[in-house]
Amino acid sequence: MVPESEPGKSTATEDHVFYPPPELRTDAHVPDLETYKTMYKKSVEKPEEFWSELAKEFYWKSSPTGKFLDYNFDVTKGKIYVKFMEGAITNICYNIIDRNITEKNLGDKIAYFWEGNDPNDCLRISYKDLLKHVCKCANVLKKLGVKKGDRVAVYLPMIPELLYTMLACARIGAVHSIVFAGFSAESLCDRILDSQCAYLITADGFFRGEKMVNLKQIADEALEKCRDKENFAVKACIVVKHLGTRLKKMNNCNQLQISWNSDTDLWWHDLMANAAEVCEPEWLSVEDPLFILYTSGSTGKPKGVLHTVGGYLLYTAATFKYVFNYQPDDIYWCTADIGWITGHSYITYGPLANGATSVMFEGIPVYPQVDRFWEIIEKYKVTTFYTAPTAIRMLMKYGEEPVKKHNLKSLKILGSVGEPINPEAWMWYYRFIGNSRCPIVDTFWQTETGGHVMTPLPAAFPLKPGSATLPFFGVVPALLNEHGEELLGEAEGYLVFSQPWPSLMRTIYGNHERFESTYFRKFPGFYVTGDGCRRDKDGYYWITGRIDDMLNVSGHLLSTAEVESALTEHLAVAEAAVVSRPHPVKGECLYCFVTLRDGHDLTDALTTELRAHVREKIGPIASPDFIQSAPGLPKTRSGKIMRRVLRQIARNERDLGDISTLADPSIVEVLFSQRCQAAA
Ligand code: WTA
Repeated sequence: MVPESEPGKSTATEDHVFYPPPELRTDAHVPDLETYKTMYKKSVEKPEEFWSELAKEFYWKSSPTGKFLDYNFDVTKGKIYVKFMEGAITNICYNIIDRNITEKNLGDKIAYFWEGNDPNDCLRISYKDLLKHVCKCANVLKKLGVKKGDRVAVYLPMIPELLYTMLACARIGAVHSIVFAGFSAESLCDRILDSQCAYLITADGFFRGEKMVNLKQIADEALEKCRDKENFAVKACIVVKHLGTRLKKMNNCNQLQISWNSDTDLWWHDLMANAAEVCEPEWLSVEDPLFILYTSGSTGKPKGVLHTVGGYLLYTAATFKYVFNYQPDDIYWCTADIGWITGHSYITYGPLANGATSVMFEGIPVYPQVDRFWEIIEKYKVTTFYTAPTAIRMLMKYGEEPVKKHNLKSLKILGSVGEPINPEAWMWYYRFIGNSRCPIVDTFWQTETGGHVMTPLPAAFPLKPGSATLPFFGVVPALLNEHGEELLGEAEGYLVFSQPWPSLMRTIYGNHERFESTYFRKFPGFYVTGDGCRRDKDGYYWITGRIDDMLNVSGHLLSTAEVESALTEHLAVAEAAVVSRPHPVKGECLYCFVTLRDGHDLTDALTTELRAHVREKIGPIASPDFIQSAPGLPKTRSGKIMRRVLRQIARNERDLGDISTLADPSIVEVLFSQRCQAAA
């Protein structure tokens, strides 16, 4: 490998290598590449031995009865399944809270520093506090009739009650289905119906920066939309008074008005007031479901990714420990929202499984000032900071001044997640936030994988800006060509995995057939990620992005079909096709082609209306940046839209390749001549 390069150069390529600082090696769980290689070999050749050693750190009420690992990845041989430690009995909530208090004596340790949207609004939650709140909430749910296996929809902002609720579900064996509080009423309704949730937990509202969000109103609209549908099963809606209390504190006479349905709505504080503080955990089979989390699917209908109790515990615990080189005095901060998988695995389950202290942040990076992130790092002396490339790119725009105002010396490790990080953003993060001494762990993974699958280990790996480096323990990647042939050495192809690790998803809720066809049918014998990837001469992996009909906007996955169906629901739109276009902050943004019905023109007013319509249907993250009127779309004779052509129009690239299969090739020039220059 070549010598270390000059930090700050934005021309980083795969030949620029950054070595871990020697001091990080002192207490490292994996201090060098040799140790990694030995551990990795064991993890893939003897997964039973490897994972059962890690399992010793947790409590299993009874041991596995069958094989430690049992699976089938080959659709031609039968049903796809994955089972880890089958027959073992445990409870994840007990393992990650109670045992930290009883076995590790961490009762008074802070589990979370909660930092509200307003900098003066903060809380300290110790492990003992957490246990108390979780048990009370678990008792409230039980009293309402929530039973093992029941699905509970959770639509909450980043407030402590979100933690309490998810952990309470885990404690009693109910399955939480958390819906990001930025999703629309329609999205919430679809998710409630798809998994027939029996309860909904929400809040009156919250502030996001200066913007007030009346969450209860959106939740009410969602319930209204699903009430007369076949799968509707919601018996009660619990409402946390969050915004109301903040407004009162601010002496705001403009009190929040929320509607109340006395048949079904219940105040959280009324229920919690008299709830008992002790709740025996429900002992579950390790393969019982823990949660459902919806992720975009290429058909437009979101997929309910299902994770189970045991494997998810083992893997989130292990990745948190090794990838962040966790040490007992660390102060860890992941800026994600718990409404996404990153928050599930690396705000809640992984850190708690290690007895860690985390920061949980309700607000946004630019409120009240653009230095909020750096202020919080200084305030809590954060050692490990985990964020998304889109946030870094946004903050880069404000230059180094806001960073320099703060002492960031406590930082030891930086992390990145959600999308490929471009070398410029990597270098800025490395140089200005980490002061050229903190390794950046660029963690590649998915809602489906439950935890990091390709990632550096910070004390052991030389880093290359933009590369997710090597597989984590137990993960066996391969690159395949279109024919399913494995590519060796330096190569680029479909990224697939040939054997399971503990936290791979087990199914799509209610649709195992879709699970098999989405992830296992294309290349029998492999789990297909849907991402493209390149392997360089050193064996390092570089994720090149989605190769299916998926978009990644600000680190959030969206399917083109989802946005297209929202657009075509509008009366003026006959047909729509959506592609991605690179965006300096969001990574990718939405470029939409719409064919309008006769009698309609794409006026500014209609453009605004269409944007608002998509935001309302899906949520603000899906807001189209560009909308172009298309008299026709480039389709093959069989009627399939050629998206690569539309992508080139959106990006103004003219490397069109063969378009002779188009039914009407002339439409391409028309679309080029009318392309949008500026965002809508
Ligand atoms: C992308 C988020 C490159 C990828 C944890 C993946 C990344 C999708 C990275 C999953 C990374 C995530 N480098 N690409 N470090 N991390 N991705 O389900 O396309 O919201 O398939 O999970 O994000 O997004 P999801």
